[in-house]
Amino acid sequence: MAWDPTQYLKFANERLQPALDLLGRIPAQAPETVVDFGCGAGNLSPMLRARWPHAKLLGVDSSPEMLAKARTDHPGVDFVQADVAEWQPDAPVDVLFSNATLQWLTNHEILLPGLLRHVKPGGWLAIQMPRNFDAPSHTCSVETVEQGPWRDKLLPHLRRRPVWPPADYWRLLQDRVSALSLWETDYIQVLSGENPVAEFTKGTWLKQFLDRLEGEERAAFEADYRARVAKAYPREQDGRTLFPFKRLFILAQI
Ligand SMILES: C[S@@+](CC[C@H](N)C(=O)[O-])C[C@H]1O[C@@H](n2cnc3c(N)ncnc32)[C@H](O)[C@@H]1O
Repeated sequence: MAWDPTQYLKFANERLQPALDLLGRIPAQAPETVVDFGCGAGNLSPMLRARWPHAKLLGVDSSPEMLAKARTDHPGVDFVQADVAEWQPDAPVDVLFSNATLQWLTNHEILLPGLLRHVKPGGWLAIQMPRNFDAPSHTCSVETVEQGPWRDKLLPHLRRRPVWPPADYWRLLQDRVSALSLWETDYIQVLSGENPVAEFTKGTWLKQFLDRLEGEERAAFEADYRARVAKAYPREQDGRTLFPFKRLFILAQI
């Protein structure tokens, strides 16, 4: 899917907080190499740089649009275009950090053990993924896909729960690493503007469906989703909208 950094970064603060929370939990003191896996527009680079000023920082992402913005905004950082499922480091790294990316990939039972091999013994694999797939922001997209004339076109691309329950990741990883922590946080996001949940989702999850439609059909799909989501997330008295969003964190030491 083609990413739109402007739409994605409309909610930059809300998207940043989980990354900061994950970063704060990584105990690495002076890593030599830190990789931002699925780095997007490179917006986490300043925080990674501030945390580990002497580390070699590398961002990996498959989106040319996101990388173009990353290279413009963060000239001091190396960025490489690659699929994170295929990318291999020259040598194992100290910290492999992945914020809000691996939910886009399938086969986690193969992917995650493979990522452990990219990290040095004693190094850290740190992952954050959204896990709000039972929330209306997601189930409304399922209903829109299933109940419209675009059903046959979009249904093969619908992934209902791309991120597993935490216990399944624990079972997958616990005997392959020396330390493992998993936790979830439900962020009570307070958003402003017209139908902000739809705007939030349009920057990420919804875009994969919109991009497969054109013209009037695309507009009708978006209108259907927006109506459902506006009903599911009514405005508060002050005009703002609460959008609780659950995220899963995995922190493993190799
Ligand atoms: C929601 S954005 C997160 C960006 C950044 N980590 C952040 O926290 O702002 C997801 C990113 O994952 C990237 N991505 C998705 N699938 C990928 C893949 N298979 N290989 C590399 N990057 C991928 C997208 O291009 C996009 O930039």
